Amino acid sequence: MAARGRAPWLLLRLLPLLAVGGAGARWSGEGSSPHLQSIFLGRCHEYSALQNPELRDKNCTGIWEAFKVVLDKDPCSVFPSDYDLFINLSRHSIPRDKSLFWENNHLLVTSYSENTRRFMPLCDVLYGRVGDFLTWCRQKNASGLDYQSCPTWQDCENNPVDSYWKRASMQYSVDSSGVIQVMLNGSDPAGAYPVKGFFADFEIPYLQKDKITRIEIWVMHEIGEPAVESCGEGSVKILEERLKKIGFKYSCINDYLPVKLLKCVDYSTHPDCALNSAAASTLREIQSLYEEPGASLIIPLLVALASGAQM
Ligand SMILES: *[C@@H]1O[C@H](CO)[C@@H](O)[C@H](O)[C@H]1NC(C)=O
Ligand SMILES: *[C@@H]1O[C@H](CO)[C@@H](O)[C@H](O)[C@H]1NC(C)=O
Ligand SMILES: *[C@@H]1O[C@H](CO)[C@@H](O)[C@H](O)[C@H]1NC(C)=O
Ligand SMILES: *[C@@H]1O[C@H](CO)[C@@H](O)[C@H](O)[C@H]1NC(C)=O
Repeated sequence: MAARGRAPWLLLRLLPLLAVGGAGARWSGEGSSPHLQSIFLGRCHEYSALQNPELRDKNCTGIWEAFKVVLDKDPCSVFPSDYDLFINLSRHSIPRDKSLFWENNHLLVTSYSENTRRFMPLCDVLYGRVGDFLTWCRQKNASGLDYQSCPTWQDCENNPVDSYWKRASMQYSVDSSGVIQVMLNGSDPAGAYPVKGFFADFEIPYLQKDKITRIEIWVMHEIGEPAVESCGEGSVKILEERLKKIGFKYSCINDYLPVKLLKCVDYSTHPDCALNSAAASTLREIQSLYEEPGASLIIPLLVALASGAQM
């Protein structure tokens, strides 16, 4: 399950499902992932040896050793600071302008980032990659992993997986610089910006204002579904006001075209994905952003660029 981005209100909606699925289990979350150590080490080696050869000196065995101390702890007494050594050993720089924050868009972010080639979201940083989509916790009263279930925030706040993502999110934010991208889901019935969530509580507060030039919010909508929220509305407005108050320069774009084109790969015959319509709605956005004389020059250029895109 996509641990990163699980927000409390999302789980509340899933609660009835989990209660049925986890009948008899101690905790409300999925159990530890099988082959945790092999997956962790394999991802670490692949990332450091092939993906990012600058990291070839990272010691994956040492990183695993630092990580696995939490597997000996009570599953409700694992704190973000328990991952300090793990983070210290696996940490590396994030290229300027390449940070991509998100809520409720895990799979879309994974495909759009293109394995660090386009952007570097947390799950494309070594310390986020090794745990992405995985779960781990020790049994309550015994040594060894619990493969039946693991605690989530509903069971206890200081569970191994949430504490990992909190610690990793904080580091990722501290190390981000330049233009910051944030992808939100404007089709989520509970709102695009969870006011309690990883981004709100463990990322925004750790952004280093002096290293950040501006923040760009992308509100993506599901193809063919009504928009629940867009820029300037509801929880997105709350986010915009928060960023303004902190003193960040920010902009907000509905259905940012490159990401929309990627979503359209799965809806190629849907009218919302006809290239003209995709381009037209984005152009309307851009026109509303650039309501100055001279902006008319930008529009034909963008049309030309958009028409060049292959679908
Ligand atoms: C990697 O870390 C392990 C565990 O801490 C250590 O035993 C080993 O010597 C380290 N390897 C290198 C090449 O530094
Ligand atoms: C890890 O911790 C050591 C000792 O505190 C520090 O010197 C080093 O810079 C840290 N490395 C990273 C990558 O944070
Ligand atoms: C956005 O939220 C909707 C509603 O919860 C969900 O069905 C959809 O899968 C989400 N989109 C992505 C890319 O995760
Ligand atoms: C776990 O340990 C506690 C305290 O030692 C004990 O009260 C409880 O019965 C144990 N539970 C199980 C399932 O063994």
